[in-house]
Amino acid sequence: MNHFPEQRVANAHEVRIAGSEAGFRCGDGEVLLRAALRQGLAFPHECNVGGCGNCRYELVEGEVDTLREDAPGLSARDRERGRRLACQSAVRGDCTIKVRLLPQYAPVILPRRTLATLLEKRAVTHDMLEFRFRLDADPGFMPGQYALLELPGVDGVRAYSMANTANASREWHFIVRRTPDGQGTRVLFDALQPGARLGIDGPYGFAYLREDAPRNVVCIAGGSGLAPMLSVARGMAVAGMLPDRALDFFFGGRSVNDIAGGDVIEALGATARFHASISHPQDADAAWGGRTGFVHEHVVETLGERLASSEVYFAGPARMAEAVLAELTKAGVPAAQIHYDRYF
Ligand SMILES: Cc1cc2nc3c(=O)[nH]c(=O)nc-3n(C[C@H](O)[C@H](O)[C@H](O)COP(=O)(O)OP(=O)(O)OC[C@H]3O[C@@H](n4cnc5c(N)ncnc54)[C@H](O)[C@@H]3O)c2cc1C
Ligand code: FES
Repeated sequence: MNHFPEQRVANAHEVRIAGSEAGFRCGDGEVLLRAALRQGLAFPHECNVGGCGNCRYELVEGEVDTLREDAPGLSARDRERGRRLACQSAVRGDCTIKVRLLPQYAPVILPRRTLATLLEKRAVTHDMLEFRFRLDADPGFMPGQYALLELPGVDGVRAYSMANTANASREWHFIVRRTPDGQGTRVLFDALQPGARLGIDGPYGFAYLREDAPRNVVCIAGGSGLAPMLSVARGMAVAGMLPDRALDFFFGGRSVNDIAGGDVIEALGATARFHASISHPQDADAAWGGRTGFVHEHVVETLGERLASSEVYFAGPARMAEAVLAELTKAGVPAAQIHYDRYF
């Protein structure tokens, strides 16, 4: 079941935050986290799909339904202590909750839900497709942000990052990698055809391009992390940051047929460089003249001391993200210069 506010503006409930003056309204059955963010509250969060655990809170009073009982973002200890996830809580009445709002989680653009039409599907690699949607109403987004797609017949929503930049045509483009036996990607790849209508809710996420940061930029993408990194790179061009600032774009795949995006980066000019590496070469990759190994090692080898003075963006599966973060920290990149969203 999907939980969007337009269907539930009647019966709005009051959510109070214990020990503070802050509060917000929530439609009946609306997701607690999304209602807070739509109203500009700095509610801690990251993934929106129950994976990261950042949106934990305690219910002091009132009634909420839990959408995903087995969400991995809550540990057994969290459950024992009565903690809940705001991204998996549907509000059923007036509530009081305990949570600490933190300014860094305030949305940069207020997210909203709208209907969208699938315009086309295009192949990117053997297992990644680009899906182009036109939104009925477009709130805009920052390069590097993501949205939630309401896919017919799929439990919950799925998060996908935009690959393009905000535009007057109201088009949001997503690059999605097929997950074996995945519910959401099966619908996207096999069932949805151009002309299909579905709900899209966004923008979300904090790994967006910092146009004002004076440093050169490094983008690191693994697999399906390609989309937001292309968006950041394209955003640099739109904001006029190139050629004054250099862009080093690293992309890691398992084998040569996973590599994509080089044409987009190279078209951005001489100060935009594409560096590809493959981690598990196949027999068919014998002619590969590029680097073999993990993408995070490639970044350090190529940039050395320059890395610590760069603005670094990365995206990809949670395990890859942990490895990149550890490597960047070891290389002395200050935390304030590192921007990422983990995929769950
Ligand atoms: C911030 C973010 C950005 C992402 N961006 C991209 C991207 O640009 N491209 C890309 O290919 N992938 C991206 N992903 C991964 C993507 O959201 C899916 O996890 C992936 O496509 C597999 O989905 P699936 O439904 O096919 O697989 P499944 O195995 O069916 O589902 C996997 C994921 O769906 C979510 N999920 C499962 N059940 C529920 C439920 N009941 N309620 C809510 N959520 C549930 C969980 O996150 C789970 O990990 C992103 C993930 C996050 C968190
Ligand atoms: S935002 Fe709720 S678990 Fe990640």
